[in-house]
Amino acid sequence: MRLNLLRLGALLLPAAWAQSAGAGASNSSATGPDKDGKYWIYGEGITATFIPYGASISNLFINDKNGIRRDIVGGFDNASYYGIDKQHPHFGGVPGRYANRIKNSSFEIDGVTYNILPNENPTPDHPDGVDTLHGGPDGWDWRNFTVVSHSNSSITFSLVDPDGAQGFPGEVVSYITYTLGNLTWDFKMVAIPTTKKTPIMLSSHTYWNLDGFANNETNLALNHSFYLPYSGQRVGADNILIPTGDILANQPGSVNDFWSAPKQIGSGLQDPEIENNCGFNCSGYDTCYLVNREQQGPYDWRAAGGFVARLQSAWSGIQLDVYSDQEAFQMYSCNGQNGSMTLKETQGLHDGSFPRTIPKYGCVVLEVEDWIDAINQPEWQRSRKQIYEPGGDPYVLQASYRFSINATETPF
Ligand SMILES: *[C@@H]1O[C@H](CO)[C@@H](O)[C@H](O)[C@H]1NC(C)=O
Ligand SMILES: *[C@@H]1O[C@H](CO)[C@@H](O)[C@H](O)[C@H]1NC(C)=O
Ligand SMILES: *[C@@H]1O[C@H](CO)[C@@H](O)[C@H](O)[C@H]1NC(C)=O
Ligand SMILES: *[C@@H]1O[C@H](CO)[C@@H](O)[C@H](O)[C@H]1NC(C)=O
Ligand SMILES: *[C@@H]1O[C@H](CO)[C@@H](O)[C@H](O)[C@H]1NC(C)=O
Ligand SMILES: *[C@@H]1O[C@H](CO)[C@@H](O)[C@H](O)[C@H]1NC(C)=O
Ligand SMILES: *[C@@H]1O[C@H](CO)[C@@H](O)[C@H](O)[C@H]1NC(C)=O
Ligand SMILES: *[C@@H]1O[C@H](CO)[C@@H](O)[C@H](O)[C@H]1NC(C)=O
Ligand SMILES: *[C@@H]1O[C@H](CO)[C@@H](O)[C@H](O)[C@H]1NC(C)=O
Ligand SMILES: *[C@@H]1O[C@H](CO)[C@@H](O)[C@H](O)[C@H]1NC(C)=O
Ligand SMILES: *[C@@H]1O[C@H](CO)[C@@H](O)[C@H](O)[C@H]1NC(C)=O
Repeated sequence: MRLNLLRLGALLLPAAWAQSAGAGASNSSATGPDKDGKYWIYGEGITATFIPYGASISNLFINDKNGIRRDIVGGFDNASYYGIDKQHPHFGGVPGRYANRIKNSSFEIDGVTYNILPNENPTPDHPDGVDTLHGGPDGWDWRNFTVVSHSNSSITFSLVDPDGAQGFPGEVVSYITYTLGNLTWDFKMVAIPTTKKTPIMLSSHTYWNLDGFANNETNLALNHSFYLPYSGQRVGADNILIPTGDILANQPGSVNDFWSAPKQIGSGLQDPEIENNCGFNCSGYDTCYLVNREQQGPYDWRAAGGFVARLQSAWSGIQLDVYSDQEAFQMYSCNGQNGSMTLKETQGLHDGSFPRTIPKYGCVVLEVEDWIDAINQPEWQRSRKQIYEPGGDPYVLQASYRFSINATETPF
């Protein structure tokens, strides 16, 4: 399996990608998973583990401003539990082959309508749901990827998604590479359709709590400060979070204004405007913000200072700056968490002061991605970023998550 994937990669990937995906491949068996099924990689001041299930990040360790090691991502203690827990919320994985929601579980390519498996918002008439979330009931983040390369600082996973899986047309071969550097977590996701035209949109669905879920004053993430400097607009959505096609303004001072200045995620929670902001009877965020940069001239997404999002906690002093080549950014404030998800042994307090579970608003999910459900919004004219075909450009997503400790004054 491993050899076949590598051969396939060599055949299909442009040289540069094949090189980065294959780097260290000969060392891939040098270090296997630990007893919990986790693969460790190391950078300067940062250590992380990954698992084949969903190509997920499972731990991310950074020292806080007091030098205390914090594990700042949600997950489980061992790899085998990811497949056992049936209510897990896409913990740290790669949603695919099409992230976020697909309206009516259908889309059209070249006049052909494809119906894919629904998995959200069941009704009596549609017991499996009326839309598809994160690629379907067996989306990529519920499947075991293959480890094709593993070095001290980097790991590459691969998945072959067969023709017809979940109803999607054609086979897709993907490579997900994660690399740690000097307080950085970089990733590159490449996906290649081999037989038919198909929609592709990936993301990383990581649950953050920059206090390592160990803040002794609050177990919520509502005091985290959040900043989206390029996001004066967002995708309008209906009461089950399906895009309506309308692009909305994040008016200065409104609950969705994270662009004019950084503010705490919880700062708008008492504002009546927040009601139904994340769907019917939901107060909080599960929102796709646009990243508008072109109008300010050519840009290099990696250039220092050009982050598309910043998340910071004054309590731990840990700050995350997200750099990405993607043109949208989803933020989910864990409105759907209800205390049913257990913390890992490596996080949280062990003194009984808070339950060892993730409460509502106890985390923040950040998702670099393209405009959601653009396959059903032809008027957005984004098919070049959404539909891929054999022999054409591959789907590529790149991001660099850069951490710093206590680097900026807290804006409050
Ligand atoms: C793989 O191992 C060789 C020596 O065995 C070493 O020179 C090379 O740097 C290693 N590659 C990676 C990516 O660790
Ligand atoms: C792995 O990288 C870390 C951090 O860069 C370093 O401290 C460690 O010595 C490296 N281990 C090996 C086996 O190269
Ligand atoms: C794996 O982790 C889960 C959740 O933390 C725990 O309930 C289970 O006992 C663990 N299993 C093993 C074999 O360690
Ligand atoms: C996925 O991998 C885990 C161990 O990491 C294993 O327990 C599980 O059975 C695997 N699932 C499948 C479908 O192969
Ligand atoms: C939704 O999809 C079904 C097929 O599953 C189709 O019959 C129906 O026309 C679609 N509805 C809309 C509003 O597109
Ligand atoms: C890591 O980055 C910091 C500042 O950005 C720098 O001072 C330090 O020398 C770097 N460390 C290494 C090993 O490159
Ligand atoms: C809360 O945590 C901070 C930072 O680790 C520590 O300085 C402080 O003493 C703790 N307070 C209590 C009451 O434990
Ligand atoms: C959270 O931030 C508010 C200001 O918005 C402040 O009053 C409060 O003390 C903070 N709570 C914690 C636990 O940091
Ligand atoms: C709205 O949500 C609250 C909990 O957040 C729940 O108690 C209430 O029943 C819900 N109302 C409706 C109409 O669904
Ligand atoms: C908590 O949420 C999960 C889904 O995330 C659901 O399966 C479970 O029933 C919920 N529990 C309660 C008590 O609402
Ligand atoms: C870190 O932040 C605290 C308050 O949040 C401040 O008192 C301290 O001076 C800061 N340290 C550095 C090195 O910036």
